[in-house]
Amino acid sequence: MDNFLKLIILTLMVIFANKNFSNGNKVRYESVEKACEKCSCIGTKDRTNFRRYILDCSMTKLNYILAGWPAEFGDNQTGTEIIASFSGNPIRELPQLPETDAVVSFSCRHCNITEIGSAVFVDVVNIKRVDLSWNGITGDELRVDVFRGRFSSREYDPIPLEELDLSHNLILTLERRAFEHIPHLKILNLAYNKFDLIDPTTMAALSTVSELTQLDLSYNHLKTLPGTFFHPFNHIHKLHIEGNLLETIPDCFNQLANSLKSLHISVNPIKIISADSLLGFKNLKFLNMSHMPVLKTVSSGTFAHLKSLEVVICKDNPQLETFDVESLKLATDLKQLDLSNCNLSRLNVDFEFEMPIENQTKYWQNLHKVRLSENPWECNCFMAHTLEGMVLYNNATKYSNFKARCATPYELAGTLLDDLTVEKACQPLSTNMQAVPDPPLEGHPFLRPKAIVLTIIASVVIIGIGFVVGFAIVMIRRKLSQSSTLFTTPIRYTTVRNSTMSTMSSATVE
Ligand SMILES: *[C@@H]1O[C@H](CO)[C@@H](O)[C@H](O)[C@H]1NC(C)=O
Ligand SMILES: *[C@@H]1O[C@H](CO)[C@@H](O)[C@H](O)[C@H]1NC(C)=O
Ligand SMILES: *[C@@H]1O[C@H](CO)[C@@H](O)[C@H](O)[C@H]1NC(C)=O
Ligand SMILES: *[C@@H]1O[C@H](CO)[C@@H](O)[C@H](O)[C@H]1NC(C)=O
Ligand SMILES: *[C@@H]1O[C@H](CO)[C@@H](O)[C@H](O)[C@H]1NC(C)=O
Ligand SMILES: *[C@@H]1O[C@H](CO)[C@@H](O)[C@H](O)[C@H]1NC(C)=O
Repeated sequence: MDNFLKLIILTLMVIFANKNFSNGNKVRYESVEKACEKCSCIGTKDRTNFRRYILDCSMTKLNYILAGWPAEFGDNQTGTEIIASFSGNPIRELPQLPETDAVVSFSCRHCNITEIGSAVFVDVVNIKRVDLSWNGITGDELRVDVFRGRFSSREYDPIPLEELDLSHNLILTLERRAFEHIPHLKILNLAYNKFDLIDPTTMAALSTVSELTQLDLSYNHLKTLPGTFFHPFNHIHKLHIEGNLLETIPDCFNQLANSLKSLHISVNPIKIISADSLLGFKNLKFLNMSHMPVLKTVSSGTFAHLKSLEVVICKDNPQLETFDVESLKLATDLKQLDLSNCNLSRLNVDFEFEMPIENQTKYWQNLHKVRLSENPWECNCFMAHTLEGMVLYNNATKYSNFKARCATPYELAGTLLDDLTVEKACQPLSTNMQAVPDPPLEGHPFLRPKAIVLTIIASVVIIGIGFVVGFAIVMIRRKLSQSSTLFTTPIRYTTVRNSTMSTMSSATVE
């Protein structure tokens, strides 16, 4: 019995010892011998004798990364480039990469990585790009020692990583010092993670990578950004913030006014983009604000200061009724405008219609791609002039596919915008042109605000005059009844009716 217990305890101890061993110390790698039989190894040399090696081990059912670089890559990799991919293997735990002084791009997408070792890139002194997207990495795994470089004199050297893709992981928050050893990071992708707010430690972590030029925070659950969010950054020129829960364009965006060139804010519950939302973005070239379920208004003046705009994508916004094209005409570099599939009926551009074409100010000279399909366009004379302007002066040949059609007025419903001419839309010229500068009108002409006001005024005038006349008649009757009985009632009634008729007709002409 005693012996039996001893045996059990001994066995348990052995099992635990083994478990500790495999979990704690032993890092496992795949043997590099014959690696190029399993993976694909390609070496190229360009005209300047620059050597580039591609190690493609994706989808090869490896459980570990290779213990070294293939012999085919040579002994001396100084001044060469290695592009290594282990994507699509169940690697689970990312260990330290084998030593090389080549410039390295490393990717392990869909690797089921949940654990990351220490000093992973310490021996890859020229690591440039790392792609760890589509894994199970949490913020806790991104410890300060993951990106640690070599220890020299009193501190760790930074590593020269420039591009880091951590999209499609499980990051909720970053540790304060997570990026301390990668201060030269230029491109950071945190899309499709679990951020619902930028907490102080995440903010602190991002502040250490102040050389960022591209930041992707799309498809998280961000409702807002801290007021000083962009303070550490002076170089961000591309920002992806689409697919979050922003209800307005955050104020902190103005800290990017000088640097930003490309902004993606699609798929956010923003209702209105106001004139000061994008104030001062004088270098902004690309703007995508599509797929916004509740966007209703892009206010007048929104684009007034965006002088460098080249591409504006504002499509698939089902509630968008107002879009200020007028301030956009000042963007002389505009090449592409996409307004398809919204709820727009008007394009309010103030062209100088009366002038001969050659005398008009030339707007949008580079606009050659315009998409206006799938909107309930109101094809009035004004619209026809705007379209003519876009095409004639600016080479915009395409607004244009078979789905860009007039919805109103009745006589032009279904007409392709391409076929809408000024002659067609401006008949009868007077009524159509009159309707143009008014605020949006809805329904029957008699329900228009102006008509209602006129009707009320006319009624008041008529009733007033009726009172005065009636009063006068009563007075006269009293006076007369005091003196004589010469006049009879029928004549008096006729007088009243006549006067009423005449006031009514004069009010209508007014
Ligand atoms: C490796 O090659 C570089 C030039 O490409 C040379 O300067 C260096 O001395 C070489 N190192 C070794 C150990 O041979
Ligand atoms: C990913 O890892 C988890 C455990 O860490 C495991 O249960 C799962 O089967 C793995 N998935 C794949 C595709 O290897
Ligand atoms: C604009 O954003 C929408 C929604 O995110 C996307 O589907 C579309 O591809 C984007 N267009 C461009 C040109 O980036
Ligand atoms: C589109 O605009 C019209 C008024 O112009 C409005 O009645 C309608 O509800 C709008 N559609 C959507 C989906 O918002
Ligand atoms: C148009 O320009 C020409 C000269 O380019 C000028 O003679 C003419 O008066 C201008 N017409 C108008 C209406 O301004
Ligand atoms: C319009 O396009 C034609 C050729 O497609 C080109 O010759 C002309 O310069 C263009 N005009 C403008 C104002 O860009």
